[in-house]
Amino acid sequence: MAVDFPKLVARTMDQFNNSALNLCVVLAEGCFGSSVGLYRYNDQLIVIKSIPFNSPDYAYTAVLKEHTILSQLCHPRIIQYRGYYQTTTSWNIVLEYAERGNLATFLERRLAEGAFLNQHAVMAKFGDIADGLVYLHQRNVIHRDLKPANVLICIDNRLKLADFGISKIMHEDDLNRTIVGTPLYMAPEVARGKDYDYKSDVWALGIIFYELCMLEHPFVDRFGKRRNQKFSVPQLDCKRLGYSSALQVLCDMMIQKDLTKRWTLESILTKFRIL
Ligand SMILES: Nc1ncnc2c1ncn2[C@@H]1O[C@H](COP(=O)(O)OP(=O)(O)OP(=O)(O)O)[C@@H](O)[C@H]1O
Ligand SMILES: [Mg+2]
Repeated sequence: MAVDFPKLVARTMDQFNNSALNLCVVLAEGCFGSSVGLYRYNDQLIVIKSIPFNSPDYAYTAVLKEHTILSQLCHPRIIQYRGYYQTTTSWNIVLEYAERGNLATFLERRLAEGAFLNQHAVMAKFGDIADGLVYLHQRNVIHRDLKPANVLICIDNRLKLADFGISKIMHEDDLNRTIVGTPLYMAPEVARGKDYDYKSDVWALGIIFYELCMLEHPFVDRFGKRRNQKFSVPQLDCKRLGYSSALQVLCDMMIQKDLTKRWTLESILTKFRIL
């Protein structure tokens, strides 16, 4: 009998029929044999993230952690978890398919075309990411690896957060010092091994916001070379791009080294009335 995926949220897929699964395309391959593939299962397209049992502990732990966190989440701006199953060789998470790929590829394409986004599009995309992030933070989850490659685009052009492999569920009085994330999106306090919390996601959100406006990373050029050693809040070219100066204010709230100057997500959204 065919398995109805949407009804299998947060449950093991006991009735899962492996032979009904057809690989359409490998979407991504991680080190140590992990992979993300698009599959046809009966008449549905689904994404399966697989990790072989013989993978190193940390890679395996990341997928199990992603399963634990994603299976507790349900929000239109978070990639939908549909279940998990095991084969004799691997552990697998089933996810909804985001038809238009990831935001990193989208931004690269826009840069190649010189096609900057207008203010409305920037704010719509920023609002989608912030919306997903508010939901996460309200559930005590810090994403910890927010970057364009982990933001997916659906057929309706709306965005969804993905890749919860190094996310963390916070408990009261938790202090975080583990250095995790992707260096270019890592808040300074994380990189320095200092205590950090939800505001480290706000830093990464700020970097993504800058990229939505300028189509490039604020601190690194397209060849991966660091621009300037001395830190200052990156400046948007608002005049040239036809953005209001309020967008620079948003950057100023998020890309702040000093945690006391960096705004909380709630305050930013109240100020901008995005949601
Ligand atoms: N549900 C999905 N729908 C469409 N594409 C997806 C989906 N999940 C993942 N991808 C694609 O696969 C890429 C890698 O996915 P993800 O970040 O979840 O895996 P990962 O193993 O953690 O990879 P990495 O280590 O590179 O971050 C994404 O950037 C995206 O292009
Ligand atoms: Mg990823």
